[in-house]
Order: sequence, then structure tokens, then C-alpha cells
Amino acid sequence: MRVLVIGSGGREHVLVWKLLQGSRVEMVLCAPGNGGIARTARCVPVRDTDADGIVDLARRERIDLVVVGPEAPLAAGLVNRLEAEGIRALGPTRAAAQLESSKVFSKDFMARHGIPTARCTIYRDPQAATSWLRSAEAEYPIVVKADGLAAGKGVVVARDAGEACDAVSRIMVEREFGSAGNRVIVEEFLQGIEASYIVFTDGRTVLPAVAARDHKAAFDGDRGPNTGGMGAYSCDDILGPALEREVLEKVIQPVIDGMRSEGHPFKGILYAGLMLTEGGPRVLEFNVRMGDPECQVILPRLRSDFAELCAAVCDGRLADYKAEWSPDAAVCVVLASGGYPGHYERGKRITGLDMAGENPRVAVFHAGTRIEGDALVTDGGRVLGVTALDRDLAGAIMQAYEGVNKIHFEGMQYRRDIGAKGLKAGAQPSGPRP
Ligand code: AMP
Ligand code: GLY
Repeated sequence: MRVLVIGSGGREHVLVWKLLQGSRVEMVLCAPGNGGIARTARCVPVRDTDADGIVDLARRERIDLVVVGPEAPLAAGLVNRLEAEGIRALGPTRAAAQLESSKVFSKDFMARHGIPTARCTIYRDPQAATSWLRSAEAEYPIVVKADGLAAGKGVVVARDAGEACDAVSRIMVEREFGSAGNRVIVEEFLQGIEASYIVFTDGRTVLPAVAARDHKAAFDGDRGPNTGGMGAYSCDDILGPALEREVLEKVIQPVIDGMRSEGHPFKGILYAGLMLTEGGPRVLEFNVRMGDPECQVILPRLRSDFAELCAAVCDGRLADYKAEWSPDAAVCVVLASGGYPGHYERGKRITGLDMAGENPRVAVFHAGTRIEGDALVTDGGRVLGVTALDRDLAGAIMQAYEGVNKIHFEGMQYRRDIGAKGLKAGAQPSGPRP
């Protein structure tokens, strides 16, 4: 099988790494890739939103399977284009990708199909939004969301009317997120703990991945602005069997059935961002692709052949596919450039990667990196993900941070509490297991 991966982040590095383990995989290409991916797969300088370039490349290289990592090309209809050319592609069509690309579509869809989510009002007019936000009816905190793709940064949890109105103005008037500011969603604040629940589906059959938990805020203790994700962990008790059944029954199956009945069947990877509230799980958002950094803790736990899994999704054969997952816990700590998610500098030399990778339980995945001469330098906000796998979460945390301590670049910024909320009360990160 000749495989092409689209994208350039940590997620795409894991996708490439896992695909390369496939028994029938002859070759993996990545467009455009990054400095780490280039060490194991050929990277081709075609942008992820250049549909013509990707179709040409897939034809020229006789690609059997395209795996699309990020949301932007999916929202722009890359899978429609590839399938029209007879090229097998993992991911939803443009219409099905609206579950992520339009929060208004997604909220309306959830209302039509009785999927539990936060109550919300949609505004087209900034003045109408701000006058309601200043009224006695508004209860704080409240959540203000841009209606479109904003790289995880278009959501503001506002503590008072001042912050909420400021968010409306940044989204709708200053257009910080471009056309995602045509509408805002003002949403009830949900209290609870978050979980990322990701499934593979061919449009009928659902194959759940192991659950994960992201750490979206920039700083320890979930403080600071939202980012694309500063780290993640995955272990078997994030949901537990009863809650997982409830999520499958009340959230995932209604999405798959609802999308099919509305004429745009969903095929690919569906990610439900959940808030586990006292009243049960509620959907915060849907994504139509693997999460990042969640991907960096989920795929290392997959023991089955990932390329075969992707092919089964594309060919509608998921009912015949059995996946096996490791019972180990996985932790990923993201190393970011100083200043991220705000302004940051690029081009800082990275050292210590080989030493971090000496532990066979640790893998370092690259996001914003680039090769410059014989050096590896930073080239983005999120730079690296250090992932460790161990028998329990405490061991995985320990080993991930041991890896982190060996890596250095100027301004390196990371959270020191990744995975801590998953530890049983009183447990401390322990030493590595024999
Ligand atoms: P979203 O992109 O919609 O998942 O939102 C990004 C982050 O904002 C989520 O992961 C939550 O941490 C937070 N968030 C979004 N919606 C809500 C809500 N209704 N209540 C509380 N927190 C929320
Ligand atoms: N880590 C959150 C996301 O991938 O959207």
C-alpha cells in the first residue's frame, strides 16, 4: 500500500509513524510534513489546502490511500475531490465536515437529533449579542464562540459581561478569526471534567478508540488562554464502561445515523469533545479528524495495523475489522515556543532529542520543526510532543517528563501538570516499572 498523509503537525507525525508499521505498507509520503517526519518519510512541499497539488501528487505517486490530518482541507472538500478522481481517502466529505467547520450547523444538528449539549443562542448582530450579555438574563461565567475554524482559539469563557462583550467585539467587529466572525454562539457554561472521545466510522459501523483527555489551557492548573492543546493522556478509566456505553448510545450513534439520514453520511474519524457533568455527558464540540495532541496518546496504544484500519474505514468494511488496544497508559507533554498561543519567535535550535528517545517507552513527535542545514530548529507554536507509555499513568507521567528534561530550545514552554488530574487522590508520579 502506498500512503499519503496530509498535514504538518504532531498528529501527522504520529499518523506517519503508525502507518509505517503496517505490514502491507510499501511507502508513506507526507505533504507538507515537518522536520521530524522528514526523517522517516519523504515530505513533499505541497500545502494541505492545495487540492490540485494533492490530487496531482496522489496520481503521480500512484497512491492507494490518502489520510487527511487537519480540519481545513476537509472543510474545503479535499475528500470530495480525491474520491471524484477515484483515490481512496480517509475523512469526511465537505458536507459532513460541517460538524466541525460550522458550530451553528453542529448545534442545530444536535438539537434536531436530541444530542445532549449546552443551551445556546446564535447571534448575527454584535449589538444584539452585547445587549443581551449586559442584561439581567445572562448568567456568568458564559461561553462565547466564533462560528468556524479558529485553531482551538475561537472560544472564550467569560467571567463577566465586560469579558463577554470584549470577546464578541474581537470575533465580530475586529474579525480576529476572519469569516468565523459572521456569527457568534453564546452558550451556557458547563461544569465538569472534559474528555475527548474519538471513533472511527465507515458511515454505519463505529469502532471506538481509547478515550483521552486534552489540556487546552496554556498554563498549569488550567489557567491562561486556550491553545490547540498543551498535552494529553489516555488510560482506561477516563470514561469507564458504563459512561462509554452512554456516550456511544446518546452521542455517537445518533450522529452517525443522523448524518446518514440527512443525506451526508459521515465516514472517517469523529471526535466528540465532551464535558462530563453531574447530569451526564454533554457535547462541547465535534471535530471531524483526530485530535492533536490526543492522537499522540491514542495511536501509540493501538496494537493493530493502522493502515488496514484506515482502508477498512474507506471501503466500508469496518464491521469485519477487530482492533486491539494496549492496556498501558500514555502521556504526551507538548513543548511550545515561548509566547504561544500569542506571538512567538521561530528558528531556535533544538537539542537533546536523541537522548530523550533513548528510553524505548518514550517517543518524540514533531510539530513545528524544520531542518536548517544540519540543525533542527523551531518553526511553530507547538514544537514537539514527548509521549511515554507505561503500565500506569503515574509511570507514564514520570517517563514523559524525564524525556522533556533532556530537550532544550530557547524559550521552551510547557505545562508541568499533564496527566495529574487523572491520578488517584494522593498518588504521585512513580519511577519507571521494571
Ligand atoms: P470548543 O472548541 O467548543 O471545544 O471549546 C474549547 C474549550 O472551551 C473546551 O475544550 C472547553 O474547555 C471550553 N468550553 C467550550 N464550551 C464550553 C461550555 N459550554 N462550558 C464550559 N467550557 C466550555
Ligand atoms: N486537542 C484539541 C483538538 O485537536 O481539537
